[in-house]
Amino acid sequence: MTAPREHFSSRLGFILAAAGSAVGIGNLVGFPVNAAKNGGGAFLLVYAIFVFLICLPVMMAEMAIGRKTQKEPVGAYKALNNGGNGWNIAGLLGVLTPFMIAVFYMVLTVWIFGYIVITLGGGLDYLAGPVAFGEFINSPWIFAAMIIVAAIVYFILVAGVKEGIEKAAKTLMPTLFVMLVLMVIFVLTRENAMAGLRFFIIPDFDKITPSVINGALSQAFFSLSLGMGILITYGSYISNKTDIVGSAKLVAITDTAVAFTAGLMILPAVFSFNPDVNPQELSDSSVSLIFTFLPKIFLALQTSLGYVAASGIAAFFFILVFFAAITSLVSIIEVPVSYLVTEKCHSRKKALRILMMTAGVLTLFASVSFGMVSFFTEFTSYAGGTRSFFDVVYDVFYDTILPLNGLLLCLFVSYRWKKHNLSEELATGNDGYKGSLSEKYINFSLSTFIPVILLGIFLNTVAVKFF
Ligand code: PFF
Repeated sequence: MTAPREHFSSRLGFILAAAGSAVGIGNLVGFPVNAAKNGGGAFLLVYAIFVFLICLPVMMAEMAIGRKTQKEPVGAYKALNNGGNGWNIAGLLGVLTPFMIAVFYMVLTVWIFGYIVITLGGGLDYLAGPVAFGEFINSPWIFAAMIIVAAIVYFILVAGVKEGIEKAAKTLMPTLFVMLVLMVIFVLTRENAMAGLRFFIIPDFDKITPSVINGALSQAFFSLSLGMGILITYGSYISNKTDIVGSAKLVAITDTAVAFTAGLMILPAVFSFNPDVNPQELSDSSVSLIFTFLPKIFLALQTSLGYVAASGIAAFFFILVFFAAITSLVSIIEVPVSYLVTEKCHSRKKALRILMMTAGVLTLFASVSFGMVSFFTEFTSYAGGTRSFFDVVYDVFYDTILPLNGLLLCLFVSYRWKKHNLSEELATGNDGYKGSLSEKYINFSLSTFIPVILLGIFLNTVAVKFF
């Protein structure tokens, strides 16, 4: 006899937890730079259209499947497939993908934690130097940082849905919003900030190429935590009273607003803290941006404010990113936890122990694949280059499988579970849904152009990444 499924205590708790999952490293650093380099306001417009017209229906479908079945992806696909096995692979991918993404996300979160400690210890000048990043990620300190981050995630998750995930989201998300706004106010009141603001916002429609469009959609999809089984699992923790359509909209709005606000922080900071910056130096990868570029930008602040204040502001920023990363990490690890609890009947504690051990070992492999251990550094090769273990996890799961998971979900919901069942579920808790324009649009889009677009992204990524 298993215990009754735990639920979020309120709609607000659910929305904050889902927004906590969505708001992550991608929003705070990935989006601003992507937007600034790829057409500014024009990119923003394309991104917002994708969020609302393509991602939102997928998000609602994920939540609906979760709530209907009260299960994580494996159980959910099984339950709605009436005992057939044909869709099991989609359910399995829905649990394996978050597990593997957790591995690489954990590596990034561990580094951020390390940067907080080093900055608070007075080492901002070291971090801004040329060797710090390479040295730090190959030092034994990352193992200590890994244990601390894993312990934080463990203690949040072991407390359960209400007392763990929801409480953490209710504390960390408002804190994050306040920190972000304070940071934006500070940055925008500095000299030269407007140059950065212009670089971020002024639309340049000439930059909107097919590859930018592809990038914008992928960014939106990842940013909303779609295709990772997370929203199926979180959806299984809500009751029939919760309006999924309205809640999903709020999550999408929050996520997009945070990404936009982060742009008001990052770009003006880059231009005003270090007026000599060449915008072309802004990296394409969030990783080098956070870990090698931004420390230099923060250090430049010492000429006007002094070293201690510059370090304080840098630490404040890294803590902000850390909070965003922790709530995302918690959401993604909850998926396999829920699988082990629901499908394998383990206790939560035991499920977490199993997962932390296996994810811990894989995270270790990923962490030493930056030069420390050559087997993992030169793990394999494809598309004409050597790839590390970390690269493989990133390329396969983050870049490739996510759109595939989205595609399978659209096909499953529209053609196996059937649209009228989806409508029924989305109308539960939302009286005006049946017959509305939203209903027509959601049913039509999920069964026609959204899967086609996701298939296009999937095939394009496979072609570009692996051949
Ligand atoms: N929405 C997250 C982000 O933008 O960073 C995506 C995500 C990645 C969620 C990894 C959870 C996670 F573990």
